[in-house]
Amino acid sequence: MLLDMSVLSVLSGEDEKAHDCLVSHLDNPMFVVTVASEHGRAGCLVGFATQCSIHPPRWYVGISKLNYTFAIAAGADLVVVHALGVGNAGLARLFGEQTGDDIDKFSRCQWQPGPDGRTPVLTECPRWFAGKVVDRFDPGDHLGLVLAPIAAECRDHGPQLGFQALHDLDPGHPA
Ligand SMILES: Cc1cc2nc3c(=O)[nH]c(=O)nc-3n(C[C@H](O)[C@H](O)[C@H](O)COP(=O)(O)O)c2cc1C
Repeated sequence: MLLDMSVLSVLSGEDEKAHDCLVSHLDNPMFVVTVASEHGRAGCLVGFATQCSIHPPRWYVGISKLNYTFAIAAGADLVVVHALGVGNAGLARLFGEQTGDDIDKFSRCQWQPGPDGRTPVLTECPRWFAGKVVDRFDPGDHLGLVLAPIAAECRDHGPQLGFQALHDLDPGHPA
């Protein structure tokens, strides 16, 4: 049976189940994203991050509208994206299970100001880039940010921390 593409824009029934199954078995790399504005610092664990252009280099990052990080990210010019390694499970737990609504995550980890002099770079994570926000859009329940990398560091090439190693985490906010 052919689908009527002119009316369909949602999944239902068996297709929805198959989609959820597919997503839950992926092992996409995990990141911690940090941002800063005149209102303060914020950061959260992110699975919705990927390079989306080579020439010029561009990245997509998705921030849930429910997260504390959302309001700061909405006003930020720069985003630091940390590519977590297997040794960074503690950072994943801090940034993925705690919320800036309740605690100051940056008092519980080592960091230094990034290339703009204020956005935190987490010193425990040896792989990160800083991306200038060049576009924002609204795909749904997440804020979509398009980033142009302007600085980067890659001090380690060890194995990455993937979603499957973290699926027992209890997010600080519902998705
Ligand atoms: C495995 C995993 C993946 C996540 N991916 C994202 C994501 O892509 N985008 C996002 O905004 N939040 C994501 N979260 C949720 C936030 O990291 C989490 O709710 C965090 O506590 C929010 O912190 P905040 O309120 O200080 O911003 C994820 C959480 C987990 C456990």
